[in-house]
Amino acid sequence: MSAPRRLTGKLVIATHNAGKLREMNELMAPYGITCISAGELGLPEPEETGTTFMANALIKAHSAASRAHLPALADDSGLCVDALDGAPGIYSARWAGESKDFTAAMARIESEISAKGCTEPHQRKGWFISALAIVWPDGHEECFEGRIDGTLVNPPRGTAGFGYDPIFLPEGHERTFGEMTSEEKHGLPADGSLALSHRARAFQLLAKACLA
Ligand code: IMP
Repeated sequence: MSAPRRLTGKLVIATHNAGKLREMNELMAPYGITCISAGELGLPEPEETGTTFMANALIKAHSAASRAHLPALADDSGLCVDALDGAPGIYSARWAGESKDFTAAMARIESEISAKGCTEPHQRKGWFISALAIVWPDGHEECFEGRIDGTLVNPPRGTAGFGYDPIFLPEGHERTFGEMTSEEKHGLPADGSLALSHRARAFQLLAKACLA
């Protein structure tokens, strides 16, 4: 197996999601990579027709890399709920609808899990997944995945972060992602031990393989 390809110079962040873009920029900041967003370049959002997080990340990264003629990094991520057999999963963005109404999406999760009688914390388990794909203009791919397990709380708590952050209480913590600063949510320890968020965990693997 060949060594992972290193990233240098410019990188397109292939997302139109402002929350993800901010987090990816924060994570990339120490590495001297110039990040440009797909939005700034006016790139279209490809249809996410994959059946896995990684397949969708690769669709977005290939689309951006071939149009921008630059390496492109895409994150496909979402919240999986144990009691809902992993839903909304790859459909996490779609549950918020055209208007991106995450208050409604969080209410739908609550209503579906309460309809199943899941009131105790152990019945309300969920996990976030982040699949990161970097694709170069010649088609070369590097892929990384991160996961964080937690419990879903009701009512939602906190106004920080984005998406489903206010209902997600990461394992071993007393505040939801919605109650954490970005730095706390990333939870990147200086000694290189495991980060906190799914995205930061995937990013640690990416950084080890392709950066520094
Ligand atoms: P997609 O990856 O663009 O299909 O969208 C994933 C969706 O999952 C986002 O719109 C968010 O709603 C949700 N999501 C992914 N990562 C996070 C996170 O870190 N916090 C909260 N919600 C997230």
